[in-house]
Amino acid sequence: MSAATGPAGRSETVIEIAGLNKWYGEFQVLRDVDLSVAAGEKIVICGPSGSGKSTLIRCINALEDFQAGSVRVEGTPVSDARAIRKVRAEVGMVFQQFNLFPHLSVLENLVLAPTRVRGVPLAQAEETARHYLEKVKLPGQAHKYPGQLSGGQQQRVAIARALCMKPRIMLFDEPTSALDPEMIHEVLETMHGLAASGMTMLCVTHEMGFAREVANRIVFMDEGRIVEQAEPATFFDQPRAERLKLFLSQILRH
Ligand SMILES: Nc1ncnc2c1ncn2[C@@H]1O[C@H](COP(=O)(O)OP(=O)(O)OP(=O)(O)O)[C@@H](O)[C@H]1O
Ligand SMILES: [Mg+2]
Repeated sequence: MSAATGPAGRSETVIEIAGLNKWYGEFQVLRDVDLSVAAGEKIVICGPSGSGKSTLIRCINALEDFQAGSVRVEGTPVSDARAIRKVRAEVGMVFQQFNLFPHLSVLENLVLAPTRVRGVPLAQAEETARHYLEKVKLPGQAHKYPGQLSGGQQQRVAIARALCMKPRIMLFDEPTSALDPEMIHEVLETMHGLAASGMTMLCVTHEMGFAREVANRIVFMDEGRIVEQAEPATFFDQPRAERLKLFLSQILRH
């Protein structure tokens, strides 16, 4: 919707995945995956367990390697160590298990990468951290430790931590699936806000309400392939693949 346009008026492609194939030993986990993402686009990725969703998004910031095909982020091919550093500077990631450092306060978690990796002065990093803690509606929690926060609060801290690196793209891997139902809402609300701010987002999630409201495009994976992709209304109301129909009938029943 709010995709940025380049000088020629065309949508600027920020992620370009082409012919991606990956194996774990004999097992092929990704099969001929092609996916282009425009600036500002929100993509939801769903599909059965083991279909390769996590592996796919982890290939974008080189948390996984691959054997064939290419991944480009803002034109940079994810290849050598230097390119990977450049790409990781643009891409923030939020995991199912928040991955906060338990022995560091919220503020210390948030300033760690900006000060250590980016060389941002501490005072400035703290100011940025407090700004994003407000954005995720957690002002005043800066000196708590992760163990003193609820799961939903910890996940919002994890989102703030990623934002402190000022990424251009955010990847989410099932950010709400480890949370109790009443906490899912507050995390989705934060993601809604981020989407509205124009951030390019790829979210692996089975929160279909969120997908319907926020996604520009929903991608369905099965057995390492993208089986179908469409904008939400078409995706839910006119699914074509039998495998997707079955998946939707299972997931929408709950
Ligand atoms: N390090 C690994 N070594 C071997 N096989 C792996 C490894 N990581 C994942 N796999 C396999 O690759 C397949 C895809 O895994 P992946 O985690 O990408 O799936 P997913 O779609 O994210 O599933 P889920 O919904 O359960 O998170 C699975 O069959 C998994 O067992
Ligand atoms: Mg996964």
